[in-house]
Amino acid sequence: MSNQYPYSHPAYVAEEALLRKNLRLIKRVEEATGAKILVAFKAFAQWRLFPIFKEEGFDEAAVSSLFEARLAYEELGKQGHAFSPAYTVEDFPYWKQYCSTITFNSCSQATQLLAHYPDSDRHYNLRINPGYSPVETALYNPAMPGSRFGVPAKELQDSLPQGVDGLHFHLLCEGNSFQLEKILSIVERDFEGILKKVKRLNMGGGHFVTHPEYNLDHLVSVLRCFSQKYPWIELTMEPGSAFALGTGYLVSHVVDLVKHDGIATAILDVSFTCHMPDCLEMPYQPAVRGAESLPLSFSSEKGVYRLGGNSCLSGDYLGCWRFEKPLSIGDEVIFEDMLHYTMVKTTMFNGIAHPDLVLHKEDGSYQLLRHYDYDDYKQRMS
Ligand SMILES: Cc1ncc(COP(=O)(O)O)c(C=O)c1O
Repeated sequence: MSNQYPYSHPAYVAEEALLRKNLRLIKRVEEATGAKILVAFKAFAQWRLFPIFKEEGFDEAAVSSLFEARLAYEELGKQGHAFSPAYTVEDFPYWKQYCSTITFNSCSQATQLLAHYPDSDRHYNLRINPGYSPVETALYNPAMPGSRFGVPAKELQDSLPQGVDGLHFHLLCEGNSFQLEKILSIVERDFEGILKKVKRLNMGGGHFVTHPEYNLDHLVSVLRCFSQKYPWIELTMEPGSAFALGTGYLVSHVVDLVKHDGIATAILDVSFTCHMPDCLEMPYQPAVRGAESLPLSFSSEKGVYRLGGNSCLSGDYLGCWRFEKPLSIGDEVIFEDMLHYTMVKTTMFNGIAHPDLVLHKEDGSYQLLRHYDYDDYKQRMS
């Protein structure tokens, strides 16, 4: 298998062999726990790769917009499982067309929409907020005081809106089975009366099951134990990141090298804000192939660089990294693990050209799936 990406345009490169490895592991988790596992499009929606998902037995998605819902319906061939913070009366028939299960974020939405569309031809869930999430970054914490997500136990008083017979929570981000165990114990304690009545529990996303340190045996025992206590409840999980974790990279190139106030910056043909937005939002410093990530205090020694994006945003840089040898114009810089929450979040901010989408096939060849041009840029804004 060739290791060097042979083209000069920046590209997100998906590794088929690594993707299949994740899919097979997730399938084993599904079989061992008995919980249905959906792929959350918000993390990964590269539909040209869906045939691989289908071959490995995944054809249902968690969707959060009508575009995602339609994509699941058209390209996975099955109705999706929807959660949206709010549905409009006008759009709701389309949600029903594309989705088998719809989760409401509030009792008022459930009551209003099910009164308007009274037929009981779909499964309806309510998102709950147990008031606890282990996520420390506020931007990603759905259980902060005053969070707009989910209904707290005290507002439900053991009853659900008419027509709703399932629950949903989403409280993890890159989470582990011990955090899930804690959440389930809070749900059992605070939603005890309701658990007796519901048929479904969707445990949201954030289950980092493909991470090497994830304790899969513990997850299996937690979920089997829950199912023994509540055998009438069908369990679902909807991770996104776990599907694409470690399955591809973003190839970029050095376009210029500048040095000011002792700080050397390599300016690249990709942008953190446009192509790797989570690096700035979280923030976190991604791994760069062949380079050592250093603490943020800058060192002016040879071979140490900030990496700068090609947008005009002043904060579009990260670093620093120590490279094996000083960088030159034209050198390749490869950001590792750049498939989840990258392509889905990219914009064409600043008119920056979009990286190609490429599949590095198991046979070692590269398939160009999509090249973006000016028309794509223009049409996204029209
Ligand atoms: C409701 C819901 N489900 C699933 C996910 C997917 O989470 P992850 O990609 O961390 O597994 C998210 C992420 O924000 C979410 O909000």
